[in-house]
Amino acid sequence: MSEKKKLTTASGIPYANNEDSLTAGPRGPILIEDFILHEKMAHFNRERIPERVVHAKGSGAYGTFTVTHDITPYTRAKLFSEIGKQTKTFLRFSTVGGEKGSADSERDPRGFAVKFYTEDGNWDLVGNNTPVFFVKDPKKFGDFIHTQKRDPQTNMKSPTMMWDFWSLNPESLHQVLILMSDRGTPFSYRHMDGFGSHTFSFYNNKQERFYVKFHFKTKQGIQNFSNEEAAQMKAQDPDHAQRDLFESIENGEFPKWTLYIQVMPFEQAKTYHINPFDLTKVWPHGDYPLIEVGELELNENPDNYFAHVEQAAFAPAHVVDGIYYSPDKMLQGRILSYPDAQRYRLGANYEQIPVNRCPFAVNNYQRDGLMRVDGNGGANPNYFPNSFDNIEADSHYKQAAWPLDSLLADHYDRNAEGENDHYTQPGNLYRLMDFEAKQHTVKNIVSAMGGITGPKKDEIINRQLCHWFRADMSLGLAIAKGLELNLEKAMESMNH
Ligand code: HEM
Repeated sequence: MSEKKKLTTASGIPYANNEDSLTAGPRGPILIEDFILHEKMAHFNRERIPERVVHAKGSGAYGTFTVTHDITPYTRAKLFSEIGKQTKTFLRFSTVGGEKGSADSERDPRGFAVKFYTEDGNWDLVGNNTPVFFVKDPKKFGDFIHTQKRDPQTNMKSPTMMWDFWSLNPESLHQVLILMSDRGTPFSYRHMDGFGSHTFSFYNNKQERFYVKFHFKTKQGIQNFSNEEAAQMKAQDPDHAQRDLFESIENGEFPKWTLYIQVMPFEQAKTYHINPFDLTKVWPHGDYPLIEVGELELNENPDNYFAHVEQAAFAPAHVVDGIYYSPDKMLQGRILSYPDAQRYRLGANYEQIPVNRCPFAVNNYQRDGLMRVDGNGGANPNYFPNSFDNIEADSHYKQAAWPLDSLLADHYDRNAEGENDHYTQPGNLYRLMDFEAKQHTVKNIVSAMGGITGPKKDEIINRQLCHWFRADMSLGLAIAKGLELNLEKAMESMNH
């Protein structure tokens, strides 16, 4: 038997009793000198940190990414440099709107955030299980999220707020349709796809540039709950997806995804008939087919949830050499937002927390700050340039300048006009569904819109109905029928 360890205070002082407070006699009050009691209570009082403002409920695991196909003609990113190359990863799945204790089977998009620990630093691909999003300008994000959280007065979730916002923002229709299909309630995190969602860019060794989208296809097969099954699971096991992921990895059934990319030649972005930087649109696979890249496998449960999963910090800002941003406005907004949120949630030195720490060299002149625990650069200089250390900015990492005309940038403005076809892609998606998928989607929409209440109920329902009609006449009709609406009235409001 291994030698017993001594119980100690946080400062390492062994002590003899962990259960009885120091008192004046067996029936008397507690003495203030029992600092161990104080330490225990004080630390307990500080156990909670702010939960993520969105995606608060989640599950995570470590894994391995393996390259299976050569994409070096498109990117010089070292993690893709040769077939067979492996990179350690950490993946966190999540729901979006609920609090940290909410149920895993809620109808909601699922987060799919991957950290690749590459030799050129950590690359974070922070996507969802859907290829599109509800809004296409970051200025709308906070307003949109408020509608997914609790009503300011009742403190309850409000279908009225949700549908009011969606009906006033028809660009959300594509994502709302996906959300209302059974893909809005995945059976587990293992049984869904993941998407980088945004358009990113690649550059290769010749500094040629491409636009790219990332797709992770589940090897477990897509499996979803119906509305009723999801509701039942919410009551039966609110942590179903956490349990499913943890137990499958514990049992050696390692979940896997195949990574594909879509690649758009750089110049085509100017003229392609869909704005390739609009996050409410997909790139049709007929025009930009999937190109296989590699395999992502999750194979290690973290030994402590808080240390690894809760303290994980992903940032779309973190791209590595060979991979860069695009002018997608949502991506641009997210570049600033995440590290800001994490400095608040985890503190200025959050990159030193083991799950976030780059396992390769980190050299810079950032020093001090709360909870600096990595030695703080020791005796090395804390300024640049200096005559003492050997750290230099490496010009090999320089990217060729972006031609401004590639961004169609000849003026600045608050550009909202442009692609306002919010209906073709959702309509096509609905028409692609098989009979059963269509039936479930309509039923789910009718059930969700049935929750709209209050004095604006008819106005909101009619406005939303018009969007469904514009996407697909038969979809609009089926929803109107399901909601038992007066069709003539609905058609009349559509003409307004
Ligand atoms: C302008 C738009 C957006 C803003 C401002 C925003 C902001 C945020 C913030 C502040 C967090 C919490 C970060 C933290 O505390 O660690 C977060 C988490 C997250 N967001 Fe966004 N978000 C936006 C759009 C999106 C989009 C379009 C996607 C997916 C395509 C997405 C996926 C995620 C995921 C997966 C997480 C959880 C990451 C994790 O597991 O820790 N977000 N977002």
